[in-house]
Order: sequence, then C-alpha cells, then structure tokens
Amino acid sequence: MLPKNKKYLRRYYEEEAKRISHQESMYIKGDKHKLWWHRKRLRYIFYFLLEILEKGHISTFADVGCAEGFYVKRVASFSDKTFCIGIDIARTYIKKAKMNSETSNTDYVVCDVENLPFRDNSVDVVLCSEVLEHVYHYRESVAELCRVGKKYLVLSFPGHSYIYKIAAKIQLIKKLFDKISPDVGHVSDIEVTEVQELLNGKWETSNLKIGGVLPLKLYKIIPSVRLVEEIDNLLCKVLERFGHLNNVTIHVMKVVKR
Ligand SMILES: C[S@@+](CC[C@H](N)C(=O)[O-])C[C@H]1O[C@@H](n2cnc3c(N)ncnc32)[C@H](O)[C@@H]1O
Repeated sequence: MLPKNKKYLRRYYEEEAKRISHQESMYIKGDKHKLWWHRKRLRYIFYFLLEILEKGHISTFADVGCAEGFYVKRVASFSDKTFCIGIDIARTYIKKAKMNSETSNTDYVVCDVENLPFRDNSVDVVLCSEVLEHVYHYRESVAELCRVGKKYLVLSFPGHSYIYKIAAKIQLIKKLFDKISPDVGHVSDIEVTEVQELLNGKWETSNLKIGGVLPLKLYKIIPSVRLVEEIDNLLCKVLERFGHLNNVTIHVMKVVKR
C-alpha cells in the first residue's frame, strides 16, 4: 500500500511515466490475457463515447487521468468539432501526450482530479478511466467530476472478483495475494453501488457494462483468449441476472445528467 501522501503519489506517476509506455502496454503490446482484460474495458469505453459523439452537439471533452493521451487523440480525430482536453497529475505524461497529439483541437493540463480547473457544468463529456482507484479521496473526486460535467460522464474502474473477496477474508491468503500482485498504485477499493449513490440525484447511470468475473490469474490457465471471452460473458450474464455488480474487475458506466 502506498503512503497517504500526495507528493509521493505525484512522484510515483512521474516515475511511472518515465519508465513505461503505459497505454501501449495496456492496449497494444504484451501478454495476451492482460491485453484481453484491458481491451474489454476499452471496447466498452469507446462504445459509450461513440454513442455520445454520434448524437452530436458535443463541443468539449475532457479525459481526467489521460496518461499518454490515447483516448484524447482518438476522440479529437473522430470529432474535429469537439475540443478535447487531457488532464493528468504527472507532468511527464502530459509532455508525452502533447508529443503524441496530431490535431489542433486538443490541449493538455497538469492537475489533480480532486481539483479540476473548470467551471461548474462546463465540460460536455468527462471520461475518467482507471483513475479513481489511484486516489485516496475517490468520493470527493466523483463529486468533482459531477461538478464540472455538463451532459455525460463515462467512468471506468476496477473491483474485486468473488474469488478474491472470499479468499481475502483469510488474512494469510490476502497477504499472499497482495505479495504476488504487482504494485500498480491502487489505493482505494471502489464499489459500483457506492459510486451510483455518490451521483447525488443530479446524475443517473444510463448503462453499466461489467467484465472480468474471475481473477485474471485464473483466466490465464485457459490458453484461448476467445474462450476466456465466452466464459466471461456467460458469467457476467449470471451476475447481472442476480444484480451482483460489485464483484467483478471491470466496470464501465455511462452516466447522464438528469
Ligand atoms: C491506470 S492509468 C489510466 C490511464 C487512462 N485513463 C486509461 O484508462 O488508459 C492512471 C492514470 O491516472 C493518473 N492519475 C493518478 N492520480 C491522479 C490524480 N490524482 N489526478 C489526475 N490524474 C491522476 C496517472 O498519472 C495515470 O496516468
């Protein structure tokens, strides 16, 4: 667990940005099972973003925690009438995102999700993908996203599978899990039902897509990624049928202003 210190967190992401090509390693290159997991949530995010952009009248888009600007770049080239802003706590990520930028309808800003430099109700679409679990005050961060968002929020965050939650009840197993899992900077556990409560009456979830019912380590035993996808889709249907949405590792929400 990382220490509760903003300076430390900032330094952590600066170093990460210097060390790796983060979004390339999540979406483009690497282990096929990891790619499957990241691409599954990426597909959901694009599904929602395209649904929103195709409706038209989206003049501003912000990606909070944009890393190297993967989503900003794609939204900006899909919709040249949309001004796209990428935000990240790490200066190095923002520098890399600026270098990747290919269109004039983009800008990038270093700042914190807890304190966004926008007026209330001023950004048509706000994307925040895989960031809330990296902040200590994720409730305040959700409130900040709600404050600046004008029409839509697209939120993506992980969770824990049933298997992890049951096993983690035994302290020794939890310690073992934590030891063998790489440190990826997660400091908060997010429950989808809590995020929905935080939306605070002004916003409502219009669609929620889930995935990653079993831990990735278990899926890795199955060599065929296509089979993994089929099993996962089937298990998602079962959990959705019984409303057990908190116990999966992928949540992508499309949220609309009432
Ligand atoms: C796991 S990456 C996700 C990147 C991207 N959103 C995606 O889904 O591909 C987390 C990103 O959040 C950024 N981040 C972490 N804490 C932040 C904060 N408090 N405010 C803004 N960005 C933050 C990190 O620098 C990193 O770029």
